[in-house]
Amino acid sequence: MDSSPAHQATPPVSDRETRATIIVCVSCRDASGSDAHPRAGEKLAEDTRRAAAGAPVEIRTVECLGNCKRRLSASILSDGAWSYVFGDLAEDCGADLVAGARLLSGADDGLMPWRGRPDSLKRGLVARIPPPAILKDRP
Ligand code: FES
Repeated sequence: MDSSPAHQATPPVSDRETRATIIVCVSCRDASGSDAHPRAGEKLAEDTRRAAAGAPVEIRTVECLGNCKRRLSASILSDGAWSYVFGDLAEDCGADLVAGARLLSGADDGLMPWRGRPDSLKRGLVARIPPPAILKDRP
């Protein structure tokens, strides 16, 4: 998890920008599996846009994040930082996603801090993906 020693050994990413992007899957269905529109994912995207008003966070949407079995899904990206994929979100998790995006874009080490991270982004963590520039196995 995020508090592992390997995590702490990640070198700082110094040339990052402070803006983050949240990508919400608008195709995700609610627990009923209904195809009705608006889909639960669309509602989450709208809730996220509302929560992001005035914040340095861009909201984008996608048709599928390949995380369908974990229900409502979204990802958070920030230049030079690790990217995060979340599932098991709720339609009203927009503020949580924005809080996570701001935590990530403000992190000196390019990692979303565990402390202060909304519970939905702790429970719903699916994967984190490093920015290629920090990988140590490059030739
Ligand atoms: S439909 Fe949302 S992750 Fe696949």
